Amino acid sequence: MLILGIDTSCDDTSAAVVKDGTVILSNVVSSQAEIHKRYGGIVPELASRRHTENIIPVVEEALRGAGTTFKGIDAIAVCFGPGLIGSLLIGCCFVKSLAYALNRPVVTVNHLEGHIYSAFLSDISPQFPFLSLVVSGGHTSLFCIEGHGIYKELGKTRDDAAGEAYDKFSKMLGLGYPGGPIIDKLAREGNKDAFKLPKPLLPDCLDFSFSGLKTYVKNTVNKLKAGNELTDTTVRDLAASFQTVIVEVLVTKLLWAVKDTGVCRVSLSGGVAANDELRNRLLEVQRTDGLEVFLPPKALCTDNGAMIAAAAYQRFIKGEVAGLDFNPRAYMPLTQV
Ligand code: KG4
Ligand code: ZN
Repeated sequence: MLILGIDTSCDDTSAAVVKDGTVILSNVVSSQAEIHKRYGGIVPELASRRHTENIIPVVEEALRGAGTTFKGIDAIAVCFGPGLIGSLLIGCCFVKSLAYALNRPVVTVNHLEGHIYSAFLSDISPQFPFLSLVVSGGHTSLFCIEGHGIYKELGKTRDDAAGEAYDKFSKMLGLGYPGGPIIDKLAREGNKDAFKLPKPLLPDCLDFSFSGLKTYVKNTVNKLKAGNELTDTTVRDLAASFQTVIVEVLVTKLLWAVKDTGVCRVSLSGGVAANDELRNRLLEVQRTDGLEVFLPPKALCTDNGAMIAAAAYQRFIKGEVAGLDFNPRAYMPLTQV
């Protein structure tokens, strides 16, 4: 069974063809980073306009890459939230028209559910139950996945997402967008002990909070600027210190969740899951704490259509098909279905 999966929730226009929910035949992502980087973050209106231009060529490329045509597609899956409403509308309206014209069923997928399902696109996928840490530009959430479509939220960020903290840190230094990969690279050459930053752990719960860290870093940057000490070296050191705190908080909370639930299988997803230090720390924990760690390939961590198709497959085989009157929503918590 071939599912065409589409995600336009943020600033990437993505389409993929996935066979039987696990085999990626094509996965095309058209990034808008070039457009948004001069603003240091996503400009929602520009993102929507670009999706409108990109969606047809991206879908056509995905079909070509999979060696199929519209006729070969059994169902169409689309992310309908959470995300930027204008961006979501483009993907959802496109999919409604396509499904109507081709007479194909539509499966709607929550973006977070899509990220969780990137764990099922590798050679080895986790058995249930497993813990899933979704850590992206819009979300930092910890779930216990008890079965297909059964999600228990254990914790989430109370303010900024981890990726958002990376992006804002990069913006305050004028380093570019998206900030994650830039800071990740700089951090490798810096001294992580150079700055003592607060570690926001929020005791006795599995929620996260990164806005205090962001403000602390902002004040530090301002002080360095005022003292004429903002150099390539101090920027690298601050990047390393900042990244160490973020990674430490994420790994600590994951280990707390393992302890609380007794579930030792953990998977990581979302754009920040492409971070090398975070991936290495989890592999370390796999060795020392006896966890089973599932890390999707980096290309499947950031937004993509394949994860949407993978999540949709499980819904489709249970007959969960949407009517063409569905609407996208900017805010859409992932709750048990
Ligand atoms: O999942 P994603 O593509 O979009 C959202 O759903 O938000 O995640 C994008 C986020 C951005 O904040 C970006 O800076 C961050 O993921 N990111 C990274 C890395 N690559 C992307 N953060 C840290 N290290 C990276 N290597
Ligand atoms: Zn995402």
